[in-house]
Formats: sequence, structure tokens, C-alpha cells
Amino acid sequence: MIEHLYIHIPFCPNICPYCAFYKESAGRERVEAFLDALLKESEQWAQRVRPRTIFFGGGTPSALSVPQFDKLLAGLHARLDLGKLEEWTIEMNPATVSPEKARLLRDAGINRVSMGVQSWDNEILKTLGRTHDAAKAMESFGILREAGFDNLSIDLIFGVPGQSLRSWQSSLEQSLRLAPEHLSAYGLTYEEDTDFFKRLGRGEMTPNEGLEADQFELTHELLGYSGYRQYEISNYALEGRDSIHNTAYWEGTDYLGLGPSAFSTVGSKRWRNIRDTGIYSETTLHGKTAVDFEEEVTESLKSSERLAFGMRTLRGISIQDAGPWESPLREALDNGLVEISSERWVLTQKGRLLADNVAEIFV
Ligand SMILES: C[S@@+](CC[C@H](N)C(=O)[O-])C[C@H]1O[C@@H](n2cnc3c(N)ncnc32)[C@H](O)[C@@H]1O
Ligand code: SF4
Repeated sequence: MIEHLYIHIPFCPNICPYCAFYKESAGRERVEAFLDALLKESEQWAQRVRPRTIFFGGGTPSALSVPQFDKLLAGLHARLDLGKLEEWTIEMNPATVSPEKARLLRDAGINRVSMGVQSWDNEILKTLGRTHDAAKAMESFGILREAGFDNLSIDLIFGVPGQSLRSWQSSLEQSLRLAPEHLSAYGLTYEEDTDFFKRLGRGEMTPNEGLEADQFELTHELLGYSGYRQYEISNYALEGRDSIHNTAYWEGTDYLGLGPSAFSTVGSKRWRNIRDTGIYSETTLHGKTAVDFEEEVTESLKSSERLAFGMRTLRGISIQDAGPWESPLREALDNGLVEISSERWVLTQKGRLLADNVAEIFV
């Protein structure tokens, strides 16, 4: 049985200039066809999935209206066995949170919300092209608590041009005042095919690596001091509040992805649904497959991916598992990037800053 289910909801009310996730603006008819297709796809898998975790990601899942959520949630309840469900997360953009929506989601069994606040500094929010301001994000956080959500996560981005260390510190402190159970702090990446990437290429935006390193360091210190464990490079949680769903990915557990652009890895197969909502809906509704990419995942690829992800987590990897990678790890040890602690290879603070380079050892 597959225990982890990802559902991609590809609609966004506004397209942010830094974002490369598969998304499009929502048109009503398109959304209806997409929901029908998604329910059909879930039906096709119903006998093979008994989820312990569900993750509604996007795009902006919270862009769906209350009647659209009604249809989706009732449809999933009718088709899937949710008796073993422990964690059901939805990503929400603060601009799309309302009390009615929050109550509906909570009543349907969703018990975790990850909210894309990004920054509490209105100037930085403007640079990021966000449609909400700090006051709206604050209000939305309150609405979610009021609706009974006791497992909330806040997404923040650092390394944004024009974002001083002071501004980043205020965003961290403001987040801490709200006492979320979980925080994700991402360094801004200039993804291909985004507006930011083009602006970077034209020299209109300049990353400041030194400042970004200071912001990363400050995050670790401030959040650590307030009781949040950095259980993965970009993720911090209070005791017992690590994301079960994301941890399953990092441990290399099987997962099923539904919706356009969603990846699945089950047994020795990995596949991806087509990155086009119209085609996804049409093919799925006609009973055909929406898969447009498939590959064989060999045991050796699986184990190197598990190690690369494992290395990004607090636990690191066991020295027994390191086998063929022992020599590059020793080299990373000499460079101060990794160390051995309790029979495990783990990143040093310097290694956390350069985690992607360390993970490359295994690829
Ligand atoms: C799918 S979005 C979250 C939900 C919702 N769409 C929103 O933006 O509020 C996932 C998260 O990825 C992060 N993210 C997206 N693009 C990024 C980039 N280029 N660099 C760093 N973080 C990024 C943001 O923090 C965002 O909240
Ligand atoms: S960051 Fe979120 S709201 Fe913005 S375009 Fe990406 S998925 Fe949509």
C-alpha cells in the first residue's frame, strides 16, 4: 500500500516572478474539469493507496473557492480510505484565506497548513511580487488558529535583493511571536524560466552571497534559541512537529502524486504527469494516462538519492551506509563540511551553508 499522497493544484491568483512551480491562472471551467479529472485519477488508484499523509501543494491550493473545495474534499472522502490518515497538509497563500474556507478545510480533516508568508516586510513583499501585505498575513494566521488549526507552518524567503540582515531578523522575530509549530526558511533561488532569472541575466538583480550566509546563520541561531530544531537544511520544527510527509520523501519512501506535473515513485518506477492542466484533464477524463515521463529507479540510484537527502537532514547518514562514498566524504571532512557524530556522517555549520555541494557527492 502507498502511504503518502501528493496532490498538485496548479492554480494561482497571481504569478510570482521568482517561482518555477507548475501553475496557471484559474478559469472557472478549467478548474471544474481539473477537479473531475483529479477525482477520476484518485479513483484509479484507490485500491493501492491508504494514506498516512496527504499534501495539497501547488500552485496555490487555497485558490480554490469554497464550493470547489466542497466538491474536491467530499470526492476524496468518498473514494479513498482515509482511516490511517495522520497528517493532511495544505499550502495556503495568505491572500486566499477566509474564515469559511478555513473551517471547511478543518472540518474535512485537514490538520496542517503551510502558509506562504515569505516576509513580514512590505517592501520585500513588493519585490517578491506578492499580492498580500504583512497585515493580511497576520489576519490570515489568526483566522487559521481561530478555525482550530494547531499545526501551522510559515514559509519565509531570505537572500532577496534589498533585504537587509535587520529586515530578515524582524521577519524571523515576527514569525516567532506567532509561535507556529513549524517554519521553512528558503534561500531565494533564481529558477530558469522565471522573471527573476531573466533579470539576473540582465544584471538588474545581484545576489549577495555573504549577506545570505549571515541570514542563514542568524536563522539557525534565532530559531534554535527559541526551541525550533533544524531537522533539514530549510526546515525547522518544535518537538514532534517535523513534517511527516516531507520526511517520507527524504527517507526515500514510496509516494503517489496526482494532478498535472506531479511526480510519483513507487517500487522501481518513477513517473511524472504532464505539465499542462488542459491536457491532463482531457486525457484523464477520457480514461487515458496523463504520464509523460517514466524512468526505472535502480536500487543504486535509490540508495544514492536516499543518502543525498539524508545528508541534508539533522540525522545525517550512518557510516555503514556511506560505503563507496567514504573517500569523497573524507575529503569533505578535511574541508570542514562534514563530521562524524555518534557513528553518523552529519553536516557541520559550514556544510549546511554548502549543503547542495555536499549532496552532489552522491549523484
Ligand atoms: C508552492 S509555494 C507555497 C504556497 C503558495 N503558492 C504561496 O506562494 O503562498 C511553496 C513555497 O516555495 C517557496 N519558493 C517558491 N519559489 C522559490 C524560490 N525561487 N526561491 C526560494 N523559495 C521559493 C516559497 O516560500 C513558497 O511559499
Ligand atoms: S510562489 Fe506560490 S503563489 Fe506565487 S506563483 Fe508560485 S505557487 Fe503561485
